[in-house]
Amino acid sequence: MATGLIAVSYIGAAVLFILSLGGLSNQETSRRGNVYGIVGMAIAMAATIVAVFLDVADFEIPLMILVPTMIVGAVIGISVALKVEMTQMPQLVAILHSFVGLAAVLIGVGSYVDPATAEHYKGVEKTIHDVEIYLGVFIGAITFTGSVIAFGKLQGSISGKPLMLPGRHLLNLAGIIVSLVLMGVFLDADTVPDGLWPLLVMTAIAFVIGAHLVMAIGGADMPVVVSMLNSYSGWAAAATGFMLSNDLLIVTGALVGSSGAILSYIMCRAMNRHFVAVILGGFGTSGGTAAADEAGEVVPTSVEETAGMLGDAKEVIIVPGYGMAVAQAQGTISEITNRLRDRNVNVRFGIHPVAGRLPGHMNVLLAEARVPYDIVLEMDEINEDFPETDVVLVIGANDIVNPAAQEDPNSPIAGMPVLEVWQAKTVVVSKRSMATGYAGVDNPLFYKENTRMLFGDAKDSFDEVLKSL
Ligand code: TAP
Repeated sequence: MATGLIAVSYIGAAVLFILSLGGLSNQETSRRGNVYGIVGMAIAMAATIVAVFLDVADFEIPLMILVPTMIVGAVIGISVALKVEMTQMPQLVAILHSFVGLAAVLIGVGSYVDPATAEHYKGVEKTIHDVEIYLGVFIGAITFTGSVIAFGKLQGSISGKPLMLPGRHLLNLAGIIVSLVLMGVFLDADTVPDGLWPLLVMTAIAFVIGAHLVMAIGGADMPVVVSMLNSYSGWAAAATGFMLSNDLLIVTGALVGSSGAILSYIMCRAMNRHFVAVILGGFGTSGGTAAADEAGEVVPTSVEETAGMLGDAKEVIIVPGYGMAVAQAQGTISEITNRLRDRNVNVRFGIHPVAGRLPGHMNVLLAEARVPYDIVLEMDEINEDFPETDVVLVIGANDIVNPAAQEDPNSPIAGMPVLEVWQAKTVVVSKRSMATGYAGVDNPLFYKENTRMLFGDAKDSFDEVLKSL
C-alpha cells in the first residue's frame, strides 16, 4: 500500500515536472510552469521522506541524518537565493550543476563500497549495476569540474580566454580510452578493493577531462557550455537514479538531460556554431580586430541630445544587453517606452538569443519591468527592420551588436548572427567606457558614422533621459 502510494506520488511529480517545462516555454505561462515545478518537487521530497520513515525506500538512511541535512541544505539554499543578484544567476546555475555532478560521484562510489549492494546484486544484475555506477561517476565527475570552471569563468575569477594546450584533442581522447580500459578492469573485479582503484583513477581522469573541456572554450561560446553542462547534470542525475533504483530521479534526470541537449542545439544554431566544434573548444582564440586600426572617430552624445532624438523619432528599436541587467535599468527603459508610445512612437525591443548571461535573461528583465510581450521581438523577427528605424538604443549590449561578426572573417565571433543595429539612421550606445564585452572582442560599431556613444551607467543616463522627455 505504502509503496503504491509513493509510486503514485512519484508519477504525479514527474507529470508536474513535464507540465512545468511546458509552462516555462512561454512567457505568459511561465509563472504557472514555475508553480508546477515547485509543487512537483515538494511532492517528490515529501514522498521520499515518507518512504524513508516507513522503511520502504530503496536505500537506507536514518531520519536523524536525512532531516537535519535537508534543513541545513534548505537554509543555505534559501539564503543564497535571497541574496543572489539577477546578474549572478548563471554562476549560481553553474555551481548548482556542479553539486549534481559531485552527488553522482559520491553516490556512485558510496553505492559501490556499500556491503548491502554486494548482497543485493548478483550475476548479470551486478554487472548492470556496476556499469551504471561507472557511467554515473564518469558523467558526474566531468559535470563537477566542468561546472566549477564554468562558474569561475562566469564569475570572472578565471579568464574567459580559451586554454589551448598542444594536442588537446589527443589528451581528451587518451583520457577516454584509458577510462574505457579501466572500465574493463572495474567490471572484472570480484572484490570491492579490486574494483575501487580503477573507479577512483577513472574519477580523477574524468575530473581532468571536465576541467580541460571547459577551459578550452572561449568566452563567446559560454552560453552553449552552460546549457551543455545543464544537460550533463541531467544525465548524471538519471545515472544516480539508476544506481539508487529511483524512478523519479531517472525521469527527472532524463527530462533535464534532454531539454538541456535541445537548448544547447538551439544555442548553437543561434550562434551559428557546430555543436561538436564548440564542445571540442578553441573558438575565440585570435585576439580579435584591433579597433584602433579600424580608425574612425568615437562621437559622444549627451542625455539631452538623446532625448531630443527620441522625441523626433517615429520608429525606435531598443536592444538590451548584459549592461542593462548590471545597471538594473529595465524599469527606467520601460517608463521611457510608455512615454514614447503615448506620443505615438513605434517602440519595439530586439532580443538576441544570447543577450545577457542566461537564456531568456532579457525577456525576464523586461517582463519584470512590465514591458508588453508583443513589442519584444526575437532577433530573426526584427533584424530586417533596422534600415527603416530612426533611432536604435543599445543599452549595455556589445557582442550581440558587433558588426565584426559579419565583416571580419578572422574575428573570434565571425559567423555569429548579430542584431544589425548599424543599419538604422542613428544608433545610441549606452555603456560606461570603450571596454569590450564578454567575448573580449573590439566593436567597430562604436566608430561608425551614425553611432553616438552615451557614456555612463545605463540607469543613471536613462533616468536623465526620462526626465528630459
Ligand atoms: P556583453 O557583450 O558582455 O557587453 C555588455 C556591455 O555592457 C559591456 O561592454 C559593458 O561595457 C556594458 N555595461 C556593463 N555594465 C554597465 C552599466 N552599469 N551601464 C551600462 N553599460 C554597462 O553583453 P551582450 O551584448 O549582452 O552579449 C552577451 C555576451 O555574453 C555574449 O558574448 C554571449 O556569448 C555571452 N554569454 C551569454 C550567455 C547567455 S546564455 N546569454 C551566457 C554566457 C555568456 P562598459 O564596461 O564599458 O560599461
